[in-house]
Amino acid sequence: MNRIAALYDIHGNLPALEAVLEDVFREGIEEILVGGDVLPGPMPAETLERVRSLDRPVRFITGNGERDVLSVLTGSEPAGLPGSVLDVLRWVAGELGPDDVAALEAWPSTVLHDIEGLGRALFCHATPQSDTEIFTRLTPEESLRPLFEGLDADIVVCGHTHMQFDRMVGRVRVVNAGSVGMPFGAPAAYWLSLGAEVRLRRTEYDLAEAADRVRRTAYPQAEEFAERWILRPKTEAEGLDAFEPVALQGDPMARRDDREVRGDEEDARRTDHEVRDPGGRESRRSSS
Ligand SMILES: [Fe+2]
Repeated sequence: MNRIAALYDIHGNLPALEAVLEDVFREGIEEILVGGDVLPGPMPAETLERVRSLDRPVRFITGNGERDVLSVLTGSEPAGLPGSVLDVLRWVAGELGPDDVAALEAWPSTVLHDIEGLGRALFCHATPQSDTEIFTRLTPEESLRPLFEGLDADIVVCGHTHMQFDRMVGRVRVVNAGSVGMPFGAPAAYWLSLGAEVRLRRTEYDLAEAADRVRRTAYPQAEEFAERWILRPKTEAEGLDAFEPVALQGDPMARRDDREVRGDEEDARRTDHEVRDPGGRESRRSSS
């Protein structure tokens, strides 16, 4: 029976993607769904080229990362982004050719796809309605029901928070693919193999070699990326501590112009930047 691999949040980590693709090919998985946030990250053009040149059916959806990079290219980047985030977005945008940009602009925000033995799957980046809304395996089911009821789907596949899970919300199975390139948890590349059953996958790869490749790029935060996301990722518990307090608070960045900024909104901004800006946490800490 045909299976589909869901690869989310690759974030320009080409060595991690290469390792996952080796597993995908070895296991004879015929179809691939790329779930957004192929970028930003340290090897954006090469990573994009790799997923766009696969010799098998591949579908794409866009993530907030692609949206942010495209906003820089059109001069419409959101106000209030920290300089370190803008540096990353501008560098990544500068690495892309016109063909890459046209491809990114064409990616839809969701894809519906029937999977034999599993049912109708809705692929989205964060939630069916948003590419930035945060929720985790701990978010109470009652508060998630409004997001997942009334969908024409048996299963929703998402990413964005870079932590895998497989849970139910009402009658809908909701699975997070985790992150290929910027995970929380044990160092590895996380992805999904979908068929009659759902397999949460983790591919180990040569971390030292990957870190060296990242350090040899001109990515503005190459060292931080190698250290923080490849060699020594934060634990899932630390990820949950960061994300669950800001679950379902809408897009923290969409409220950046609010006059009255409460403490929890500051936390939300920080969390959002954490994923946008892999090296930012340490630099913010040291500057505060
Ligand atoms: Fe991401």
